[in-house]
Amino acid sequence: MASPSPSAGTTTACGRWAVGVTCTHLGCNIANPSLGGDVSFSRIACGCHGSQYGRDGDVREGPSVRDLPNYAVLVQQDGVVLIDAQEQVPIGTRLATT
Ligand code: FES
Repeated sequence: MASPSPSAGTTTACGRWAVGVTCTHLGCNIANPSLGGDVSFSRIACGCHGSQYGRDGDVREGPSVRDLPNYAVLVQQDGVVLIDAQEQVPIGTRLATT
């Protein structure tokens, strides 16, 4: 289940979700601050060439033309939240919080 694919997880009252942060333009790691990327609650911005994504990974501004992948989120019985970067799910998929 573990994967080296970088991803960012978010939890809100609407649920939990995880978005890959490898830019779909040319593959920069958006979460690497030394590359100038920005991963925040409201936006994901690649510092390499300026692609912008919404918080679900939906591409908002190029040069990228593809959304970031969304991954399955699992919660273990002990409450630990895991991101399964081997299982892509449709963009906007949420795991309900209880
Ligand atoms: S690699 Fe992200 S915009 Fe080019």
